[in-house]
Amino acid sequence: MSKYPIGLRSPYLGVTASVVLAVATGCMSHMDDMGDMGGPPDVIDVPPAEGQFETEVAPDLDPTDDVVEVELEAKASEVELAPGHRVRMWTYNGSLPGPRIEANVGDTVRVRFRNSLPEETTIHWHGLRVPSAMDGVPRVQSPIAPGEEFTYEFVVPDAGTFWYHPHVRSDEQVERGLYGSIVVRGTSEPETTSDRVVVLDDILIDPSTWQLAAFDQMMQGMVGRQGNVLLANGRAHPIVDVRPGGLHRFRFVNAANARYFRLALPGKSFTLVGTDGGMLEAPRELHELVLVPGQRADVLVAADETADTALEWQTLPYDRGHGTGALPEATVFQMRSTEEDAITTPVVPSELATIEPLPAPTVRRKLELEESMGGHAGHMGSSGMGFVFSINGFVYPDIEGLSGALGSVEEWSIVNTTTMDHPFHLHGFRFQVTADDGAAPDFLAWRDTVNVRAETTTRFRVKLEDHAGTWMFHCHILEHAERGMMGELEVQE
Ligand code: C2O
Ligand code: CU
Repeated sequence: MSKYPIGLRSPYLGVTASVVLAVATGCMSHMDDMGDMGGPPDVIDVPPAEGQFETEVAPDLDPTDDVVEVELEAKASEVELAPGHRVRMWTYNGSLPGPRIEANVGDTVRVRFRNSLPEETTIHWHGLRVPSAMDGVPRVQSPIAPGEEFTYEFVVPDAGTFWYHPHVRSDEQVERGLYGSIVVRGTSEPETTSDRVVVLDDILIDPSTWQLAAFDQMMQGMVGRQGNVLLANGRAHPIVDVRPGGLHRFRFVNAANARYFRLALPGKSFTLVGTDGGMLEAPRELHELVLVPGQRADVLVAADETADTALEWQTLPYDRGHGTGALPEATVFQMRSTEEDAITTPVVPSELATIEPLPAPTVRRKLELEESMGGHAGHMGSSGMGFVFSINGFVYPDIEGLSGALGSVEEWSIVNTTTMDHPFHLHGFRFQVTADDGAAPDFLAWRDTVNVRAETTTRFRVKLEDHAGTWMFHCHILEHAERGMMGELEVQE
């Protein structure tokens, strides 16, 4: 099977004549007919690059022990993604990813934010259970205008790996580079030789200029903008040096607009110890791991004991619909054992945490994820053609919000009526998946983002605890969220 069926050479070269004709004559009432036009591009191979792998920690400006105060400024900057390739992007504090925020459970985090972008923005704290007013979505806060400042302040209640990104035009702002990680440490963390965050992304580069390719709703609206340069901590194909024999912790974050990373370390297994909302009860040995946009995974891996050997973390093909499975595997980063003496691998603890299963729900909801072609050719301006994504028939922001009661346990059935996968994300709370296409999951885990595979139903339980207010839920393929696959839950005391 060819990578770009029906003559589509590459998404950024434009649309083939047959597709334009089909749109113009209005014969595409079904998006299924368009499965051929959004095929993602091949990954551009770049040679492995030495250098600093980890992002800097944001300096804590408050001397008080349990307060972490940081400054973030969103601004245009040039970032060296690969040796010799400086790309004009938008960043927090000039770095990609933005500075890592580190805190302990129970700390107060205060972020003094300044918007130096040419357009308005906000910051959303993905996965952190913060008060609604601090959640950084336009429904609870007027977007911060260029030149303006805003201070976010909240307590971080859970240990785990989280991330931050804008919630205004997120499809463009996140793609341009606005994201960073947050690590919240608990009182019992597994003993490891190293502990690193790896923020994964892919950006779409125009290979002729090595700058960001144009944003093109027609080409990128349907399966989401999938990039051709894979990034780990803002760099293409970096090398991370690890102590031979050591047990190394990688906290993966998928910050891509649309790419599903199916991570593997060929010939080697690794150990999953945590998901979005913190530790699992017990470690799980894996050979691969699908990480959908928005999700995090905390894994431990034993480094090779032979000095100077490199293993490649790859992303394997994943079919999430509409021709996305046709791409070959690609290297994300290299893990290289240094020349230091091997050390004895610390043992992975057999018990990590206790997760109480949520009790039976008092409220059940069904949310149907839908796609359709809206409007017709005459209505498709330069801002994009009529891909419409909706939930229960509502296209955000034209919705009727749901309402829930603080403290209650609910079960949500997310019914995917479409022929592609959607990563479903809920703000403000963490949930426990109870069924994936009818099957109970193998283990309990806290999540805030879950993949709902094409034409299947995923169920989860959620306790609406701690914070009343307005909470968004949406597909974390950012093009889908911005094109209507988003809703609101109003939680009342
Ligand atoms: Cu990662 Cu509504 O967001
Ligand atoms: Cu989606």
